[in-house]
Amino acid sequence: MKLSRKEFLRLSLAGGAGLFLPFGASGCGGLFSGNNGAQGSAGALLKSAAKLPEPFTIPLPIPPVLEPVHTDASADYYAITQKVGRAEILPGLKTEVWGYNGIFPGPTIESRRGRQTVIRHRNELDVPTVVHLHGGKTPPEHDGYPTDVVMPIGRRKSGHGNHGGHAELNVIGEGTFDYKYPLDQPAATLWYHDHRMDFTGPQVYKGLAGFHLIQDDEEEVLGLPNGERDIPLMICDRSFTEDGSFNYPSLDPSLKGEPGVEPEYMSGVLGNCILVNGAPWPVLEVTNTLYRFRLLNASNARRYQLALDPPPREGASFVQVGSDGGLLAKPMKHDKIEVAQAERFDVIVDFSSYPVGTEVTLINEFGADSAAKVMRFVVAREGTEESRIPPKLADFRPLSRSEATVEREFRFARGGAQMDGMTLWTVNGEPFDPDRIDADPELGDVELWKIRGLNLEHPIHIHLVRFQVLTVGGGNGDAGPYNQCWKDTVSLSSGGEAELLVKFDGYRGKYVFHCHNLEHEDMMMMANFEVV
Ligand code: C2O
Ligand code: CU
Repeated sequence: MKLSRKEFLRLSLAGGAGLFLPFGASGCGGLFSGNNGAQGSAGALLKSAAKLPEPFTIPLPIPPVLEPVHTDASADYYAITQKVGRAEILPGLKTEVWGYNGIFPGPTIESRRGRQTVIRHRNELDVPTVVHLHGGKTPPEHDGYPTDVVMPIGRRKSGHGNHGGHAELNVIGEGTFDYKYPLDQPAATLWYHDHRMDFTGPQVYKGLAGFHLIQDDEEEVLGLPNGERDIPLMICDRSFTEDGSFNYPSLDPSLKGEPGVEPEYMSGVLGNCILVNGAPWPVLEVTNTLYRFRLLNASNARRYQLALDPPPREGASFVQVGSDGGLLAKPMKHDKIEVAQAERFDVIVDFSSYPVGTEVTLINEFGADSAAKVMRFVVAREGTEESRIPPKLADFRPLSRSEATVEREFRFARGGAQMDGMTLWTVNGEPFDPDRIDADPELGDVELWKIRGLNLEHPIHIHLVRFQVLTVGGGNGDAGPYNQCWKDTVSLSSGGEAELLVKFDGYRGKYVFHCHNLEHEDMMMMANFEVV
């Protein structure tokens, strides 16, 4: 008899193995020491066996913008096929990617605020998939709940059977599903990625991620850099085997059987090759003008501290104009930016403060060796400035503590449950259970969530909502430089705390919130809230 995942967990708990482990007591304590050549990142480094290219030799690819297959008065309709593709990521080698339309990153979707976008996803892969629009205010049945799977095309109707992992799946599509996004939300940089129960880490790692941008009139009138000077940058780390394949330490690399990773990677998988838009340490020629970069950290486990080398002679390196949830109230200057997994920073870089001919490297101060570099800009020529950074960007009303109707506490740590001898990542000591509701906010309410991370860093993401960060780091802190205005993901340092004012706007129903270290997420650091 095959035990369900839930039964596994119960047995382990009954056996008394479910005690909280003290920091680093898992038998692989070295992984907690941060001695992974990646300061500020949870995880273990998996080195590439393949020869990696000389940095800054490969031109930056820009993901293609997808055209709708048709549009009508009410919506724009798109079609995406999830399938295997072959990409030349490392020169001379072919990498098998699992991509939206077979490419990695997937095509960029550009939507208009308030205009419904319908995306027919067709699953030509060999495993179930789930699509989540990260940052989208989406009704629950289209949000990519982890067990709401689209089965591979041509697979016979499988009902609620087990198919990899131990969770019960809810089949929403046999081969295809139309995800409908109302997108009744301001201009912002969103992204879509796989969210399959137990297998999000490997499926994103193989390439299932892309940008989805929302545009609106408010943003357009600002005069920010646009067109070729508005560039999305998806930053992620990967490791490659000798033949150029993605190297991921799955227990079952087919992703059809046992979920999970080899025990030494339970804390996170860190690669030593940094990709931007799917290319290793690429280079981009720019004019000596303003550019808008939509930075996304799409890594499984790596956090970055981004800086420019050399910094500009005058002015800040980055002027942030947007965050996860859209435009800031006003521009915010940074010399460095810490970006945790799934966070977005919309920044303007002013290349006019560099002489033509300058090479400007985007570096990662949290990384060592090959992971310390990200990409390079070459200020190749003069350009005409057509854009500006206005002093005011968007209307923004800060929520106040007194608006919160309910206060909740969530603790993200390792311990509380085991599976197959591995100590899982949990929320309030509980592993993910699709049937357990951990919070039941009322539609329209504002709640105060006090969240705490233990053992390691945890970037915490809440589906459906946008929230405001009141404090980070505990004490009488403030939101810090990286949590301005509307967020959907907040980075907790090891032992760190944050207070969030969460507005439960939009739709009733059940959604997840979880750690966006994808190994933590797959190893059960996820919980449910139901908007009632
Ligand atoms: Cu970006 Cu629940 O995920
Ligand atoms: Cu985590």
